[in-house]
Amino acid sequence: MFKAPRGAADVLPSEQRYWRYIESNAVAQCSLYGYHRIDTPIFEDAGLFVRTIGQGTDIVEKETYTFQDRGESLLTLRPEGTAPVCRAYIEHGMHNQPQPVKLYYFSSIFRYERPQSGRYREHHQFGYEAIGEADPALDAEVIDMAWQLYGSLGLTGLSLVLNSIGCRECRPRYLETLKRYYSEHLPQVCPDCRVRYEKNPLRLLDCKQESCQPVAGAAPRTADYLCAECSNHFASLQKYLGALGIALQVNHRLVRGLDYYTRTVFEVQPQEEGAQSTIGGGGRYDGLIQELGGQPTPAVGFATGIERIVLNLKRQNVEPPRTPSPSVFIASLGEAARSESVGIAGALRKSGIGALQGLGGKSLKAQLRQADAWGASFTIILGDDELRQGVVLIRDMKGGEQRSVPKDKLVAELGQLKMA
Ligand code: HAM
Repeated sequence: MFKAPRGAADVLPSEQRYWRYIESNAVAQCSLYGYHRIDTPIFEDAGLFVRTIGQGTDIVEKETYTFQDRGESLLTLRPEGTAPVCRAYIEHGMHNQPQPVKLYYFSSIFRYERPQSGRYREHHQFGYEAIGEADPALDAEVIDMAWQLYGSLGLTGLSLVLNSIGCRECRPRYLETLKRYYSEHLPQVCPDCRVRYEKNPLRLLDCKQESCQPVAGAAPRTADYLCAECSNHFASLQKYLGALGIALQVNHRLVRGLDYYTRTVFEVQPQEEGAQSTIGGGGRYDGLIQELGGQPTPAVGFATGIERIVLNLKRQNVEPPRTPSPSVFIASLGEAARSESVGIAGALRKSGIGALQGLGGKSLKAQLRQADAWGASFTIILGDDELRQGVVLIRDMKGGEQRSVPKDKLVAELGQLKMA
């Protein structure tokens, strides 16, 4: 027996209403904030992600699905959505369009992680990128859109965690200070942190190991080493978020797991603790487009995991609207009535009324049970007597009343009745 691969899941029909609810709310926000949809390939040249996410990151070192195709190109299943969008921005000369170019996507994302609740090897993101503008008001707008999306879905109790990790000018000085500090504490930290110390010192700050907490907690703070421009940017962003009425917590240890960020980094977290609980995250990446061979182009964006939103909707008992089921069920008895029922079902659907038929020659009782299970608003009953008289019976499934209607008036009659 085959099963879905470890860390990948089917989205069954019963779950779809959560997904459609999230998608329709997200699309509505995108139209309010002026974003347009982009779809990029599921795989890219492997080098794209090494160059942007960073050589020393967990994603690139341990989590990518990289393979050689039959033409010997080295490809990677997309482990995030920002780099592909930036590649597309450059490839299609989008710098010639009015800036910022605002793009959103719904993408499947692949990371070879240890599967657990809320963490998968294939997950799905709704993400958006605003490319070509450095104004901190755009950072605030990007954060606001995420905030409004979660609010529109009915999620509560979320916190916005914010930090600034500086830019190419000021970060080297900070990293030097951080390394100097850690050099005195190396015997106290975990083996992973000793590797981070060499390869990716910024990530020392978000180590989750208990033993590393005192050292990381007392480490020098990025915010104290920002250059004047980064410092002003961070102050303005906080002011704008205040103007939007969004409460925030500055967390000096928030650095995020991708190397391309500059200045603003942020995450949205539910009350539940734990790294795999972060519901969405993003930040500014002013150097990424240039790193990929484009003009120097500032940009900022965000992505949220759909599975994690579903998890939180369920935890908070938020019920998305149910997709309406076909509204009319046609029960028929006997072959002559069956043939009539096929024609009626076709006519109803053509006039925009959803219709299902009882199949397999079941008894009337069994067909009515089926109609109930489908959630039909009305059942049409067709037997030999009705055929002879040129009528059909319409049964209101809520109240149970039945009445007879001339066959040729059925479509018009049903069109007027209120469907559930
Ligand atoms: P990220 O924080 O790696 O950022 O992922 C964004 C969101 O995807 C997370 O907050 C989480 O909800 C979800 N997620 C990540 N990994 C998993 C997983 N293994 N299973 C389930 N859900 C997961 C990015 O990917 C950046 N590209 C975001 C961004 C856009 N930054 C700027 N623009």
